[in-house]
Amino acid sequence: MEKGKKLYEGKAKIIYATEEPDKVVIYFKDDTTAFDGIKKEQIAGKGVINNTISSLIFELLQKRGIPTHYIKKLSDREMLAYRVEIIPVEVVVRNYAAGSFTRRYGIPEGTKLEKPLVETFWKNDELHDPLVCNEHIELLKLADLEDVKKMKEMALVVNEVLKDFFAERNIILVDFKLEFGKTPDGRLVLADEISPDSCRLWDAKTMKKLDKDVFRYDLGSLEEAYKEVLKRLENK
Ligand code: TMP
Ligand code: ASP
Repeated sequence: MEKGKKLYEGKAKIIYATEEPDKVVIYFKDDTTAFDGIKKEQIAGKGVINNTISSLIFELLQKRGIPTHYIKKLSDREMLAYRVEIIPVEVVVRNYAAGSFTRRYGIPEGTKLEKPLVETFWKNDELHDPLVCNEHIELLKLADLEDVKKMKEMALVVNEVLKDFFAERNIILVDFKLEFGKTPDGRLVLADEISPDSCRLWDAKTMKKLDKDVFRYDLGSLEEAYKEVLKRLENK
């Protein structure tokens, strides 16, 4: 599938048109950003790793009946996907306290939550992705509330699948962020990427961080951490 015109460039990916109007090529860049683009670096090979991990995870989720935008992996850095309009509501699922949950509610990092927590954030870098509830989503006309209900239900199913998948590889799925989109024919599908950029992953024995927090808080080599995740996913 040949890449056509550039449709959109985000912080970590570029979306290209293809000769088929309902399909796009997603190109994974090495650019790594944190805190809504305030911290930025190129990390050689990150795009290749994230494309590989995302492809593997989308294939797993599709097998488990979750509708996704994923069609196939085209090359090291490219994925073929259905074209979607991204819904500007990010869904975060948390199994353990970390990140903004710890900052907002004062629960210490690493505390296991009694049950998975689903949160919704407005995808808006300028406003730093504020936490929103259904009332905000309705008032700000960010999404249809019926779709949001389905997104939250799907996110919990994704959590059950991925929690076990990572646990079998000695990795704790602490939390993750999902994005959803609508295809031109109105289907609601899981979109974007699922990678150590969008998940918190801790080594189950040592609790070592194997995700983008390594970059956010200068905890060591991001490349090494992501390679370790990929190795465990591929070698099982
Ligand atoms: P948070 O604790 O900072 O709210 O992040 C929750 C999860 O979402 C974590 O796994 C990292 C991921 N995430 C993104 O993928 N993109 C973002 O812009 C942010 C803030 C978090
Ligand atoms: N995804 C956001 C950024 O790239 C925030 C983050 O991951 O910390 O800036």
